Amino acid sequence: MNLEDIISQTIRQNSKPIGFDVFMNLALYNPETGYYRSNASAIGRQGDFITAPETSDLFGYSLARQCKQVLNKNTSILEFGAGSGVLAAQLLFELARLNSLPEKYYILELSAQLKQQQYETISKVLPELIDIVEWLSELPKKFSGVVIANEVLDAMPAKRLMFSEGRFVELGVDYIDGRFQWSLFDEPYSGLMKMPTANFTEGYKTEINLQALAWIESLYEAMSDGVVLLIDYGMDRTEYFHPQRSEGTLRCYHKHKASDNPFENVGKQDITTSVNFSDIADQACDAGFEVLGYCNQTMFLLSLGIENYLSEEKDNAKRIQLAQQIKQLVLPSAMGESFKVLALSKKQTVKLDGFREQDLTSKL
Ligand SMILES: C[S@@+](CC[C@H](N)C(=O)[O-])C[C@H]1O[C@@H](n2cnc3c(N)ncnc32)[C@H](O)[C@@H]1O
Repeated sequence: MNLEDIISQTIRQNSKPIGFDVFMNLALYNPETGYYRSNASAIGRQGDFITAPETSDLFGYSLARQCKQVLNKNTSILEFGAGSGVLAAQLLFELARLNSLPEKYYILELSAQLKQQQYETISKVLPELIDIVEWLSELPKKFSGVVIANEVLDAMPAKRLMFSEGRFVELGVDYIDGRFQWSLFDEPYSGLMKMPTANFTEGYKTEINLQALAWIESLYEAMSDGVVLLIDYGMDRTEYFHPQRSEGTLRCYHKHKASDNPFENVGKQDITTSVNFSDIADQACDAGFEVLGYCNQTMFLLSLGIENYLSEEKDNAKRIQLAQQIKQLVLPSAMGESFKVLALSKKQTVKLDGFREQDLTSKL
């Protein structure tokens, strides 16, 4: 059965529209036919979208400096949703160079195809280090070290809501006349939502990511101690619910073209929503984490000295290439401002180098 049939059958069996989170979950993660389960070449220049580690090795090298500050011989790295494996390779390469390798590099990956790709990427560039990499199929019991999730929270299925007649109502998905269509639920949305007092206009749309909130809670349980680095595009609550953001943050990517229509190219395009970092931080603190810092990607990478790699490069042509890559990562008009870094800790007090130049925690 193709993915469209699977989702439309789910709607029929439900005998009413399904939540957008259910649609997004099936479209991205349905075993075998979901976007991230069937499509090993989604990420990168040849795929649908490009992430920071795919843009430049300097992203992972800079992040390695942050890891070095908190790692020791008995602690490990745990990366969620490791994509092509390129970030793992960058981190291991640079940590080896800095003489700060972790005990283990764990990867928790949902897709079998991506696991294979990650194995190939890492073993090709660092065959001598492949033995410290271990793939997990579930959260560990007592993880100690650094947890990394780059563009993972935004890929978790979110609910979509619309302001209608004075309250928020869930915007679900129906299947009518052979097409997926938005459909408003009958009841107001009864879940808790923290938002600034604002006069929302009729039809204002937004998202809430309950799965990401539940994930934070289970992550706390899975850790004995350590630091969590969450890197994603997103913003604080005030910006998230800005009156001008009236169509919400839902976006789809197909062959590097953005759209707001999740009902086309089902299973062949990425679907994503921006991260409400205030919600994540609140949930993290409720679970027991402490917030160590929050800033934009520009300031995080500059604080970690990303530009130093330029002066170390002797080859002129390579230096020009690296300068272009740095621009892509740090210029506010590129990835610098829309991407944020949130750092959390469990039973570990440390002033992280990545927030030396900017810490916007008070805005959360
Ligand atoms: C946009 S891709 C990012 C890939 C990679 N981190 C990078 O930066 O290139 C999102 C990834 O998150 C993964 N993901 C989503 N939810 C996850 C979860 N609960 N646990 C582990 N991985 C998850 C998806 O399978 C997908 O591979």
